[in-house]
Parts: sequence; C-alpha cells; structure tokens
Amino acid sequence: MRYLTFALAKGRLAEQSLDLLEKIGITCEEMRDKSSRKLIFTNEELGMRFFLAKASDVPTYVEYGAADIGVVGKDTILEEGRKLYEVMNLGLGSCRMCVCGPKKAEELLKHHERIRVATKYPAIAKDYFYNKKHQTVEIIKLNGSIELAPIVGLSEVIVDIVETGTTLKENGLAVLEEICPLSARMVVNQVSMKRENDRITRLIHDLRNYLQSAD
Ligand code: PRP
Repeated sequence: MRYLTFALAKGRLAEQSLDLLEKIGITCEEMRDKSSRKLIFTNEELGMRFFLAKASDVPTYVEYGAADIGVVGKDTILEEGRKLYEVMNLGLGSCRMCVCGPKKAEELLKHHERIRVATKYPAIAKDYFYNKKHQTVEIIKLNGSIELAPIVGLSEVIVDIVETGTTLKENGLAVLEEICPLSARMVVNQVSMKRENDRITRLIHDLRNYLQSAD
C-alpha cells in the first residue's frame, strides 16, 4: 500500500490537528515526542506518513504532491493561492482577518485615502483593498509583530489575524473592518484526490461524522 502523506502546519495548529486525527483512529505517537529532531513520522499499520512544515509551505507541498493531504489555516491558503482542493473546514483555530489600526484611521478608510497598510499577508490585503474596496493603498510586507507598524508610524493601518483581540487592545488599536473569518482547513492534492479517492473520501467522511457528533 502506498503511503498517504500528511503535511501539518507547525505550531499551535499541529497539536490540535493531531488530536483531531486521533479521534478518528489516526495516530502518530512518534510525532508527539517534542524532543525528537526527526522530520517525518510513519504509522506502518495505517500506511500513513506525517510531517510538520512551516504553515506557509504546507500548500506548496500539497500542490506538488509531496503531501497528499495538508492541514493549514485559511489565511495561508488564501495568501499562497496554490492549486489544490480545499475539502473541509476543520473548525480549529477560529479567528478573523481584519483591517486594524487606531480609531482615528477609520476616516482614512471611509474616504479611500492612499494609505500605507502593513501586513504579513500582502496578497490578502491587495485583494481586499484593490478588488473589493477599490482603494489604492501602499502595502508593506512585514514578518511578525504587525501591530507595531501603526504605533511607530510605519503604516496607518494593518491587515492581520485577530483571535481574542487582546494584542490590539493592549496596544491601543481596534478592528476597523473585517475581511473574512478564518479556521483550519483540510486540503488535498488534485491528483491524489483521484488516485487515492477511496482512502481520502473515507477520511473526510470519518472527520465529518466526528465533527458533527462533537457539535
Ligand atoms: C497573531 C496575530 C496577532 C495575534 C492575535 O500573531 O498576528 O498578532 O496573534 O491574537 P489575539 O487577537 O488573541 O491577541 P502571532 O502570535 O501568530 O505572531 P506574530 O506577531 O509573529 O504574527
């Protein structure tokens, strides 16, 4: 039997993804061992392999078929724009993609001013401002701690993930506009979906049943 290979986004989501898979009998004990430096883990009985990758690389592994299946946030899927099937909303890590900034920046958004927007998600920001709002802005790519940008005067607003809203609140910022809701999704390589249809369909079916019963 050919291995079915899973790419899981490293970090907060990885643990939750493993917990969820475990609920439908897909286990990978080795992967829980935090001290291990191994990169790929196998469950021989199930004919499955698992690896952790940087979230933004998960869609790449799946598009090229290096992984049949990926678990990754909708933010990353939108930003990367890879060719793959998004087959399921796993409901994990629910949060929102938002335009945020100091309250006074609201006016700049209303009047379609040419403002600067700092973000880790330039493709999402561009799509939102150019295609949905028809507002010309300057997008500045950052790699983390995005909330700093409006505080130190790098940009007027930011496009970023808001989960609890604590980071914004503690820094005197607020949600000004909501772009879209986010959560983890299961994605599948387009060829694998045909070649491994039985196994993948069963997996989706089991996950769906579990998620419905847990509601
Ligand atoms: C994310 C996001 C916000 C924060 C939102 O950052 O970019 O900064 O979480 O969470 P909250 O609404 O619950 O405060 P992350 O911790 O992933 O790190 P980053 O700053 O490197 O992007």
